[in-house]
Amino acid sequence: MLSIENIEVSIGGSQILRGVNFQVPTKSVTCLMGRNGVGKTTTLRTITGLLRQSRGTITLDGREISSLPPEERARAGLGFVPQGREIFPHLTVEENLQIGCVARGKSMSGGLERVFSLFPILKEFMPRKGGMLSGGQQQQLAIGRALLTEPKLLILDEPTEGIQPNVIDQIGDTIRLLREEGKMSILLVEQYLDFARELADGFAIMDRGAVVSHGPIAELTDAVIQEHLVV
Ligand SMILES: Nc1ncnc2c1ncn2[C@@H]1O[C@H](COP(=O)(O)OP(=O)(O)OP(=O)(O)O)[C@@H](O)[C@H]1O
Ligand SMILES: [Mg+2]
Repeated sequence: MLSIENIEVSIGGSQILRGVNFQVPTKSVTCLMGRNGVGKTTTLRTITGLLRQSRGTITLDGREISSLPPEERARAGLGFVPQGREIFPHLTVEENLQIGCVARGKSMSGGLERVFSLFPILKEFMPRKGGMLSGGQQQQLAIGRALLTEPKLLILDEPTEGIQPNVIDQIGDTIRLLREEGKMSILLVEQYLDFARELADGFAIMDRGAVVSHGPIAELTDAVIQEHLVV
């Protein structure tokens, strides 16, 4: 479904990605892992079109999207939940949710009940400013916003980072549900090993700007973890 081939990216003259290769198979959850600063976020930002590669190609369902602007990639079916959530703090929850739909040219009403059933707190807090929500609630808002665009591929950058355990569980449940429904593929950046092992079908591990190990999640052995993930 998503294929990343030989992506190279430089920022301010230094090469950050040195030839990233991996795939997200259709209707599966792939976990992109790696220590801090190895280029995970840079990879996701390149997939969504916020950064431009100097080499390499990105293909979504057989269509090359590498040179499309971010909004066209969203329309092609990419939903993105960025690291740090990036909701609009001065807009209400409702307005934050609307923005996702506008980006994809869809009406909000269709998917809204579903988002409320996944994250009931959002219904209660519709008129509140996004900035008044807790970190976990903002994460739920960011995921809800992405889901309203009905993506083919949902991309999440460390959704559990800095979030209290009960909300981590809720986010885990949501990802599990989406996986079971089998309507979308998921690319998840995650540092929590247990979370990744429980939810992912496959993994790819990055080190210094390249994927150094990948395979089905059963192949994420202690030896692989020791070599590439333990700090
Ligand atoms: N805008 C930028 N300007 C300069 N350097 C950058 C920029 N963005 C990222 N980098 C550098 O690129 C490298 C990869 O960063 P990136 O954010 O992709 O890593 P990451 O794997 O997502 O890390 P983390 O686990 O901390 O989120 C780092 O060395 C970082 O300092
Ligand atoms: Mg990151």
